[in-house]
Amino acid sequence: MPANGEYIALPARNSSEELLEETRLDGSRARSTTRYETSTNDRLIFWAAVGVACSTAFSAVLFFITVFFPPNVAVAPSRITTGVPRRPNPYVYLDRILANTTQKFPPITNFPPVALQFDNADPKRRMREEERGRPTEFGTVYPDDRHILVTDKVSTVVQFRHIDYAMERCVLNITIPQQDGHFDPAVTLTDPSMVDVWVLDAPMELSRYISGTLERAPQRRELLTTLTVSRSESSHSSEFHCSSGEFTTLELVCSPSHPNCNIDFWQDQRAKPIGGLHIVQQSSLSPTTT
Ligand SMILES: *[C@@H]1O[C@H](CO)[C@@H](O)[C@H](O)[C@H]1NC(C)=O
Ligand SMILES: *[C@@H]1O[C@H](CO)[C@@H](O)[C@H](O)[C@H]1NC(C)=O
Repeated sequence: MPANGEYIALPARNSSEELLEETRLDGSRARSTTRYETSTNDRLIFWAAVGVACSTAFSAVLFFITVFFPPNVAVAPSRITTGVPRRPNPYVYLDRILANTTQKFPPITNFPPVALQFDNADPKRRMREEERGRPTEFGTVYPDDRHILVTDKVSTVVQFRHIDYAMERCVLNITIPQQDGHFDPAVTLTDPSMVDVWVLDAPMELSRYISGTLERAPQRRELLTTLTVSRSESSHSSEFHCSSGEFTTLELVCSPSHPNCNIDFWQDQRAKPIGGLHIVQQSSLSPTTT
């Protein structure tokens, strides 16, 4: 024991100074303290090592699980991107609201936003777009005109999009367009010309923004109609079903039974009177009997 009032600096824990101090004061007690502290340190190191070992083992198990059994979440996005891109249905529950309606809706005139040409001699049916770009002082301008060209050498693919709800009774109509102000349809026609109209197997949109869709004309599915195209009167198909939100893709080709056809004109959906190749869509709401 130190004398009264005498200052003794507290030894730092675990330092050699501490051991020295304790030994000097009471040899037996110092020895037991040292033994006690050493065993505490050993246990701490032991459990720390156990903790590290467990953590390492757990991480290794997790790593092998993710390598050999990848979670399904990682598969899902690729499945979405490989599918046909679809547009969402904007008409949720409209069928319930219109269930008993007696309202009549007027017909819609629908022009194809896409018209592409391919050579009949090309077995790959590679398509191209003929457009009417012309240079101006602002740069090249591409008007909205679409080229309908059907000869013994060239066929045309058109695609319609059916946007409106319950306008699913469709009729295809070909009317030779007329000059309207600045719009010149530049018609060349062997009058009359017979043209076969095929429905193509293209459930998806033909668009420059969906890669690969503009490269080749899709395969034919069925013959829709054979039309006689003449200047004197418009011709039309019989009625067919066109689902809302879907596309109708058609191929116009010279009818093999009547060769030497020649239909060549440009069309503009804003031109008046209405002319060109278009679809007239009628309301398909059920109570036509009421
Ligand atoms: C339509 O008519 C049926 C039978 O008359 C009725 O049960 C139903 O509630 C009606 N629906 C609407 C939306 O009015
Ligand atoms: C085809 O379109 C022309 C021009 O709009 C129109 O006069 C004619 O009635 C239409 N025919 C049918 C069957 O819709």
